Amino acid sequence: MADKLWDGRFSEATAAVVERFTASIDIDRRLYRYDIEGSIAHSRMLARTGIIPAAEAEAIVQGLEQVRGEIEAGRFAFDPRLEDIHMHIESRLTEIVGPAARKVHTARSRNDQVALDLRLYLRDALDAAGGQLAALERALIGFARTHIDVILPGYTHLQRAQPVLLAHHLMAYVEMFARDRERCAECRRRTNVMPLGSAALAGTTFPIDRAYTAELLGFPAVSANSLDAVSDRDFVIEFLAAASLCMMHLSRMAEELVLWSSAEFGFIELPDSFATGSSIMPQKKNPDVPELIRGKTGRVYGHLMAQLTLMKGLPLSYNRDLQEDKAALFDAVDTLSACLEVLTQMVPGIAVRRERMEAAASRGYLNATDLADYLVRAGVTFREAHHAVGRAVRFAAASGRELDELTLEELQAHSALIREDVFAHLRTREIVDRRSCPGGTGRSAVLAAIAAAEKRLP
Ligand code: ARG
Repeated sequence: MADKLWDGRFSEATAAVVERFTASIDIDRRLYRYDIEGSIAHSRMLARTGIIPAAEAEAIVQGLEQVRGEIEAGRFAFDPRLEDIHMHIESRLTEIVGPAARKVHTARSRNDQVALDLRLYLRDALDAAGGQLAALERALIGFARTHIDVILPGYTHLQRAQPVLLAHHLMAYVEMFARDRERCAECRRRTNVMPLGSAALAGTTFPIDRAYTAELLGFPAVSANSLDAVSDRDFVIEFLAAASLCMMHLSRMAEELVLWSSAEFGFIELPDSFATGSSIMPQKKNPDVPELIRGKTGRVYGHLMAQLTLMKGLPLSYNRDLQEDKAALFDAVDTLSACLEVLTQMVPGIAVRRERMEAAASRGYLNATDLADYLVRAGVTFREAHHAVGRAVRFAAASGRELDELTLEELQAHSALIREDVFAHLRTREIVDRRSCPGGTGRSAVLAAIAAAEKRLP
């Protein structure tokens, strides 16, 4: 039977059902790299402070590197009776190094050890997410540049409202993803704090050098309170909250891709390599990729709620409940990463049905606001202008025409201030380009927004 590292005070072996119930190795084995990195730094610190002899620390470091090699080569034997990744690594280390390995856990507890591992893991995951977000932003910006002159209807209430540039629409998502990237960086700052030295909950009696361990592991700060450090999972919750927001953005975009690729909109066609067929209807080409992005969003929200709920009743400090944090965190990291990756790869392959977009933008009175603005410029108050144009729209709709399909006389029946130049004023492209204030859909404003977005990319 596997040798337990804590069984000194026990007179009975652990029940098999309890071993199965409490084991977390199937989940936390993916922390092995961070666990080893942390133990190496801890051992070096123990040697430097003279808490253990340098030669033994060196043997431990060598042993840990061997364990890492074995895990990476798939030659490591995992055994659920050894509970978790920390026990697995220490146990194998002891086989390799002998009695000296029993010193690696001096001045340390699994409570500060697991907190460290999780912070090291999340720090990397946040960097990776930031990189993936930047790649998605880049793909969308490239797409926006390629289609800089394409116009489509902008919507409110899913009703056609005013024409906008497709590039402007896409850049709205770039803004969202840039905020997501910023949130990752902010979460990283609070994740990047070194908890080792808190030991079980109260700190340690050994003369450790926490600053040195932090330096070895690239942490700019050490935690200030041992009770907080072993029981704090704010950084996990912050990540899950940031990931939930990002998934929400991805899901909104996915929803639009689903709508736009339908026959009803017909604005885009998804690449064949990113669509799937139906097992019964030969004609079908389904947008399963965006649908699944939309669908996976709920999973990440669920993990956020699970983690908040996990924490809400926990007394200080460490409680075994905390072990449940990892499945949620890992799945959220994987889900977010998979969604970012697939969307980034799909974007350049999306075909734009420009004629469909522009035809839609020219029907449905999307120029009504601009006719009202025209009347305001001629001296009418905005409310009066709004009424006059409303009447003109009603009149045009009765004969199935657009405002710019009315004759000058018909338009003048609603306001004597309308002149021949109104037709140029109501052209879709003029309407778009007129909105050149910063943040607007005018071509010059969008090009400026694109340049600004490119500049803030890493
Ligand atoms: N597997 C445990 C976890 O993930 C490690 C810490 C265990 N600590 C303890 N006192 N049992 O939280």
